[in-house]
Amino acid sequence: MQLTWLGHSAFLLETDKTKVLIDPFISGNPSFPITAEAKIKDIDFILLTHGHGDHVGDTVALAAQHEAMVVGIYDLTSWLSTKGVVKVNGMNKGGTVKLSDDLSVTMTHAIHSSSFEENGSNVYLGEAAGFIIRMGGKVIYVAGDTDLFSDMALIQKIYQPTIGILPIGDHFTMSPTTAAYACNEFLTLDKIIPCHYGTFGLLTGGVDEFKKLVKRGQVVTAKAGETITL
Ligand code: NI
Ligand code: MN
Repeated sequence: MQLTWLGHSAFLLETDKTKVLIDPFISGNPSFPITAEAKIKDIDFILLTHGHGDHVGDTVALAAQHEAMVVGIYDLTSWLSTKGVVKVNGMNKGGTVKLSDDLSVTMTHAIHSSSFEENGSNVYLGEAAGFIIRMGGKVIYVAGDTDLFSDMALIQKIYQPTIGILPIGDHFTMSPTTAAYACNEFLTLDKIIPCHYGTFGLLTGGVDEFKKLVKRGQVVTAKAGETITL
């Protein structure tokens, strides 16, 4: 299983069989590494945690280009269907869908909002969510944009992820302090990949502070564009 951070909350996960994009914010993403563009090919699935522009990103264009299926909360995928996305799998929290022999996802709770700015006003698109992704023999918890919540312990207990992708940038999500609290108190992850930091000036939480605070699990930071094996 290989993971490439595409900057912000965008990730590419790949095995020999399957390629998945998570929250593909590419156009206008100041931390998107141009070198990663060549790695985005033959995408099978696009997973969206919520409807904000920095997560939906280039989904409509990428879904068309790769004939990829978009997976997200029902309200968001319904709206994307009206924007021309052909293959969608709308689900909701608590549900699990088997997407291929190599991939199943469960939608988890997140504490955040979900809307898309269109013609000067916000269209609300259901709730923000996270995912448990089972792929290539690994179980990955993608928290999505979220505040800290103690039911992360329940997510850990039930789904037993060993890898977590957590937002740490503050302002819109958990800060290094609360994200580290999640790792130290509620989750028992082996590998922790921080995201949603450093992209914009508003995101004041940084990875050095996060690393100092995490006592349980190894914080793994790849440079944007670098592919690491999990
Ligand atoms: Ni958001
Ligand atoms: Mn965001």
